[in-house]
Amino acid sequence: LQKEMSTLPRVYVTRQIPPEGLRILRESGQVQFELWDSDDVPVPRQELLQKVKGVDALLCVLTEKIDAELLDAAGPNLKVVSTMSVGFDHLSLEELKKREIRVGYTPEVLTDAVAELTVALLLTTSRRLIEATHEAKTGGWGTWRTLWLCGYELANSTVGILGLGRIGVAIAERLAPFKVKKFIYTDVAPRPELASLINAEYVSLDELAKQSDFLAVCCALTPETKEICNKDLFSKMKNTSVFINTSRGGVVNQEDLYEALSTGQIAAAGLDVTVPEPLPPSHPLFTLKNCVILPHIASASYTTRNAMSALAANNLLLGLRGEPLIKELKL
Ligand code: DGY
Repeated sequence: LQKEMSTLPRVYVTRQIPPEGLRILRESGQVQFELWDSDDVPVPRQELLQKVKGVDALLCVLTEKIDAELLDAAGPNLKVVSTMSVGFDHLSLEELKKREIRVGYTPEVLTDAVAELTVALLLTTSRRLIEATHEAKTGGWGTWRTLWLCGYELANSTVGILGLGRIGVAIAERLAPFKVKKFIYTDVAPRPELASLINAEYVSLDELAKQSDFLAVCCALTPETKEICNKDLFSKMKNTSVFINTSRGGVVNQEDLYEALSTGQIAAAGLDVTVPEPLPPSHPLFTLKNCVILPHIASASYTTRNAMSALAANNLLLGLRGEPLIKELKL
């Protein structure tokens, strides 16, 4: 048995992932795997560089940078990198492509959870729920007041989506019953099939900024979208607008956002993602009442995280067998 085991393809898993994915790897009988057995701290880089030596496949999460250094450390056996995330900005796609390594990721299974959280964050931010609970329990609750803790409502509003994909559509579907007047979106090009599902109009980035009462960022972080939400964009937004980001922190210039929020250029922001993560508690954004910050939890439901781990495990096993992955990034 010992001998048989040692001939199986070697896999390194960079995190104690949810049980479903580990079960699939274990029960496949197809691989031997080693695991960074913690979910509380990421595997230290040096340890990772050691552990990947000679592996056939790697299952990672978004805290691991998969770059030339790591791929060189892994060496020529590496055939598949499977990330338990829909985002892929932590992967050097060029380096993976050069080495003909196949890449699995986990879109779709997290769409509902992310859309749900985005709506929750939007309402929390626009209706000032964090401020409100704080006031209620710290003695700020005086008499009923006519304009106290007023926010902005979705009814009759224009909702803008920056980057229309599955998640943007799912957010709009959930917001529509709140009587949104109009959905608008921008992307590198119109996406008529998706847009028709939610009756959304394609506009320029400028128009998106100008017209949106709520602006939800749903794009991937790429060199093109890096800090696309900057002074220029915020300065075109209404001072009653609410900005929501559940994609990646890197799409926002945080200094510019701080400026826009602290000067009243825009009304409020809800962020599930920041740069860096974790955002240090001393960060100026935490001092703002009109900024709600969550610790990157958009996909954090038990069902979704298990589905992501299962999909990541299945992608990896399929890749090792030389079969098409369920969800493969085209490089
Ligand atoms: C992703 O999958 O990219 C999210 O950020 C975490 O679920």
